[in-house]
Amino acid sequence: MEEIKNPKHSLSNAVELLDLERLSDPRGNLTFVEGGRHIPFDVKRVYYLYDVPAGESRGGHAHHELQQLIIAVAGSFDVVLDNGYERKTVTCNRPFQGIFMKSLVWRELENFSSGAVCLVLASMRYEESDYIRNYDDFISVARKG
Ligand code: TYD
Repeated sequence: MEEIKNPKHSLSNAVELLDLERLSDPRGNLTFVEGGRHIPFDVKRVYYLYDVPAGESRGGHAHHELQQLIIAVAGSFDVVLDNGYERKTVTCNRPFQGIFMKSLVWRELENFSSGAVCLVLASMRYEESDYIRNYDDFISVARKG
């Protein structure tokens, strides 16, 4: 039987590719992000991944509440996104684009290029209790909602 797709289950409800502003002049490029204006949350935390060895992956979890914006400020990497119904891989390689993700999105970051830097703006401080680190647990939480 053919699967009937429910629009409520679309990954695009939870993930958005954002084009950020880019000011270019002969001195170089400048991109900025304001909480509450370019992203729908106030930034409570910033972290970044760098010096990721070739072949290593990061992530492999989801969050109950946390929302994030992910930007490849240098180099490139792939982000596998999964809302429990749909899975998609997005390549991040432009410092003026970001992946905005709401809560309950499983993400895996892989294929880091040499020199890649993954900048993350987060809506909450670090809280281990907000993590869902087991994929089966994630599926049951995501499909309950
Ligand atoms: P984790 O989020 O699991 O890494 P990734 O998703 O990048 O693969 O975090 C790895 C470790 O770092 C874990 O012990 C928690 C710690 N950590 C903090 O203390 N603060 C933070 O803001 C982050 C993101 C992680």
